[in-house]
Amino acid sequence: MQPYTIEFYRASADYLLARLPRKPEIALVLGSSLGPLADEIEDRIVIDYADIPNFLRSTVESHAGKMIFGRLAGKYVACMSGRFHYYEGYEFEQLAAPIRVFKLMGVRAAILTNAAGAVNTAYRVGDIMVVKDHIKLAGMSPMRGPNLDELGPRFFDTSEMYAPALRTLALECAERVGQKYRTHEGVYFYFAGPQFETPAEIRAARILGGDAVGMSTVTEALTAAHCGMDILALSLMTNMAAGVLPQRLSGEEVSAAGAEAAQRFKALVREIVGAMA
Ligand code: HPA
Repeated sequence: MQPYTIEFYRASADYLLARLPRKPEIALVLGSSLGPLADEIEDRIVIDYADIPNFLRSTVESHAGKMIFGRLAGKYVACMSGRFHYYEGYEFEQLAAPIRVFKLMGVRAAILTNAAGAVNTAYRVGDIMVVKDHIKLAGMSPMRGPNLDELGPRFFDTSEMYAPALRTLALECAERVGQKYRTHEGVYFYFAGPQFETPAEIRAARILGGDAVGMSTVTEALTAAHCGMDILALSLMTNMAAGVLPQRLSGEEVSAAGAEAAQRFKALVREIVGAMA
């Protein structure tokens, strides 16, 4: 089948819908080490990415590569345990697939989570940032290529793509679950990776208004904005970004901080899902 047509995505969506008792309302895309939230989903139906027609395959070890459907805090959710990144070798256009499939399944809102490096020196490791906007200087877009008019317009607005109401809700929920770490609202600065940024890139990101840096989320968020989904993105600060502290960065440090925060991150996402309309 011709890739990136509406029929191409519909084949994935129809395969999934045929295996579910109902349509999912909210999609959760879980970042590095934040996967354990998927364990909380009740009456779960688990489907390997490899079994979904026309779907992408996962390559990152810490990502499970499964779609989990079921009930979370009273909502029927679709959860991607393991997401896809440009640095794995996918093209930006391919990265649109999961969100487009969710849209065709009836999903109306997406919660995107990620691990990120703190650029804002007032942030601390363990803090959570509610994304209020992003900066992506990498020229590519997941919407490059023929537009799918069924999903959204060729030229689409991104001025309030991170839904203000969901951002407010997330901050209220963080207050309620009593995080000992702080929750901020800030700007996510996208770098393609897989190398961590240089200290000079981090200084540039800070001057330009970035509060945190990461290698994911923006592709999914743009795809969701194109097709009119409500978006909430949450970043967990797993490390201070390059050059902030006199030490080197490592993937192990990021994973360890993610694992440490998994429980409270889970509690927060559950509270938010429960509170969503
Ligand atoms: N940079 C980019 N991506 C990241 C980082 C970082 O410092 N930490 C976690 N993901």
